[in-house]
Amino acid sequence: MAEQYIFGTPLSHTAIRVMLLGSGELGKEVIIALQRFGVETIAVDRYPDAPGHQVAHRAHVIDMTDGEALHGLIMRERPHIIVPEIEAINTGALIEVERAGLARVIPTARAAHLTMNREGIRRLAAETLGLLTSPYAFASSLEELRQAVEKGIGYPCLVKPVMSSSGKGQSKVDNPEALEAAWHYAGRGSRVDQGRVIVEGFIPFDYEITQLTVRAANPAGQAETYFCEPIGHIQVNGDYVESWQPQPMPPLALERARHIAEKVTADLGGRGVFGVELFIKGNDVWFSEVSPRPHDTGMVTMCSQVQSQFELHARAILGLSVDTGLRAPGASAVIYGTLEDRAIAFRGVDDALRVPQSDLRLFGKPESFVRRRMGVALANGADTTQARARAKLAASRVVPIKEALLENETPGKHEPELGGLV
Ligand SMILES: Nc1ncnc2c1ncn2[C@@H]1O[C@H](COP(=O)(O)OP(=O)(O)O)[C@@H](O)[C@H]1O
Ligand SMILES: [Mg+2]
Repeated sequence: MAEQYIFGTPLSHTAIRVMLLGSGELGKEVIIALQRFGVETIAVDRYPDAPGHQVAHRAHVIDMTDGEALHGLIMRERPHIIVPEIEAINTGALIEVERAGLARVIPTARAAHLTMNREGIRRLAAETLGLLTSPYAFASSLEELRQAVEKGIGYPCLVKPVMSSSGKGQSKVDNPEALEAAWHYAGRGSRVDQGRVIVEGFIPFDYEITQLTVRAANPAGQAETYFCEPIGHIQVNGDYVESWQPQPMPPLALERARHIAEKVTADLGGRGVFGVELFIKGNDVWFSEVSPRPHDTGMVTMCSQVQSQFELHARAILGLSVDTGLRAPGASAVIYGTLEDRAIAFRGVDDALRVPQSDLRLFGKPESFVRRRMGVALANGADTTQARARAKLAASRVVPIKEALLENETPGKHEPELGGLV
């Protein structure tokens, strides 16, 4: 754990080289945080011009589920540290690289492997660590699914592909008639259509949180667990639309949440940020899932914490000390693409930034989809109620539009030297 790096000069023989596997909006912020310490960054994604590609020293486009391609790229780049940002990675290749001592995988290759499949992490949490979770079963056919629900899980329940994220392929099932549609929907939403699902009993929680947890070096150089203030969030169809920090919690529920987070992150090991997702009802706390990396709901920390989750991740993986303190109550609200097109434009950016104590991140994704996350609004306030209202207002003022529409209203459209100024 107590590995120390010698900080050097990027693009030279003294550089610390870090490779991001997945270079979306979360990876982009990690890269920026790393670059501030003079780290050489290598961004990898499955499509060109991903957000992280745009800010890294080098960018690569490969299929990260292809073990040979991934191993080949690692051998060519020889990073000291590999930081998975997404789940869809050939974790076999990472395990091999780690075992051969070629690079350090964050937090560990095993953690990346276990969390890429809901079955791995759920069985670890519930069966090995004995943590409270929703009742669950796995099924590889519609018949098995029906059996599992009828023999115990009951209705309502949630059906999810074992390999998926951001709510893809996930549906709530209220009665037996809806089960078949949920099975087929899961097959379509799966990252790899391997026809396996988890079915979970529905937990009627009061609210849900992300407990960001950091494993980092303490002053003595040993691994220590640090907790951020809990983040409350709202999910629509399994995808996050709004988050805020701090989420007020009764002391007992908070203590239980942190106990769960401590247990699961200690087992996964290594160092870095983890997003532990928990359901809360009164003083009862259920473990849901964990990301061994910064979490989408944690984008709020860019305005609410002294060190954002991206800075915490960068520091933790470099063996540096961390500060998980809150700076001010804050909130984030997602800006969706709302339309399908390449090279979209955004109207209302200045209006959005006129909301007091607000800020924006536009991710720079080359292509927009209706439900693709294209940006996020951030805001602080005297409390999270005010921060949430501000973040939502700012987000609502940013309007994605087709580029052609913008050209029609932009006098300087043929003057590239204006650099997009209107
Ligand atoms: N068993 C459950 N009971 C109630 N709500 C659930 C349950 N499982 C998931 N959800 C809701 O769906 C969201 C997404 O589910 P999750 O398992 O986190 O999928 P993903 O990996 O796509 O984020 C959760 O944040 C929660 O709002
Ligand atoms: Mg989740």
